[in-house]
Amino acid sequence: MRVSASVLLLAIAILAGCQTQKGSISKKEQAFQPGSIWNDNNGEVINAHGGGILYINKTYYWYGEKRGKSASEGVAVYSSKDLYRWKNEGIALAKSNDPNSEIAVGGLVERPKVIYNAKTKKYVMWFHLELPNKGYSAARAGVAISDKATGPFVYLKSFRPNGHMSRDMTLYVDDDATAYHIYSARENYDLRITKLTDDYLSATTEDTLLFSSHREAPAVFKKDGLYYLITSGCTGWAPNKASLHTATSLFGPWKLVEDPMNGPLAEKTFNGQSTYILPIAGKKDAFVFMADKWNPKDLKDSRYLWLPIQFKDGKPLITWQDSWKLDSFNQ
Ligand code: GAL
Repeated sequence: MRVSASVLLLAIAILAGCQTQKGSISKKEQAFQPGSIWNDNNGEVINAHGGGILYINKTYYWYGEKRGKSASEGVAVYSSKDLYRWKNEGIALAKSNDPNSEIAVGGLVERPKVIYNAKTKKYVMWFHLELPNKGYSAARAGVAISDKATGPFVYLKSFRPNGHMSRDMTLYVDDDATAYHIYSARENYDLRITKLTDDYLSATTEDTLLFSSHREAPAVFKKDGLYYLITSGCTGWAPNKASLHTATSLFGPWKLVEDPMNGPLAEKTFNGQSTYILPIAGKKDAFVFMADKWNPKDLKDSRYLWLPIQFKDGKPLITWQDSWKLDSFNQ
């Protein structure tokens, strides 16, 4: 029997279509669904809470707390080229089995953030460290280092920056490559900033109080020379109202502006708590607000709320959406 060229082409096209369906998600189906279960490349739920993202070598690395039902199991890392599909890269920073280690099992490693130091060619991780079996009383900043983005990170030390308690925190690298640690101090009543040393491994004595409004979960971005800082209130795992401050210098003064959340449950940050603000590579003024929807009964089942930051009349607006795509930034 003779098969015409067009029939052959049709058969090839159908086969190719089947392959796309069987394999990874097709481009058409990719979308962020805040609060839904989000699986990695192995079909397992992504376990990276209180996290942050580093973009380097055309790859996004998502670092976050690996959690059991309540246990802190170190820092997990995932990689992605498109922000929708994430490959599990394993444990970036493992808990130690040595009971004398500051990062021994039984303590807490929370809100890890990783930055890259171009001078030393090292990846540097800072996190909120609590010592084993001491609840939240240690209130220290922990530092770890690696030659590779995926780790393994080696734990270096912990301290209270310039003697201040340090719980919820974030890192921010400015355009001139100077890095900063923004942290909740004095039982979370104060939010402070410390400039880091050139190698990003320590706090300098340039350390200032930003405001005393009992805030935590800091997340920062910069647009047109203005810094934006989103924080949460202090109600443990329970959601509360976010607030936004702006400043022309990271050291302040910071001005309180309206809460940018908009839509159902906006007054409770959509049942979430800020963790990071991600600038999208290659897109101007495109930022993703990342938050955690904590489930204190089963922390590993806490969900991720990622929403685009839009600007209306020059002010940031974070509107709830059940589903959205990166294309929305072009509109
Ligand atoms: C939150 C904080 C979380 C975690 C939690 C424990 O306020 O943002 O990172 O520490 O408290 O209750």
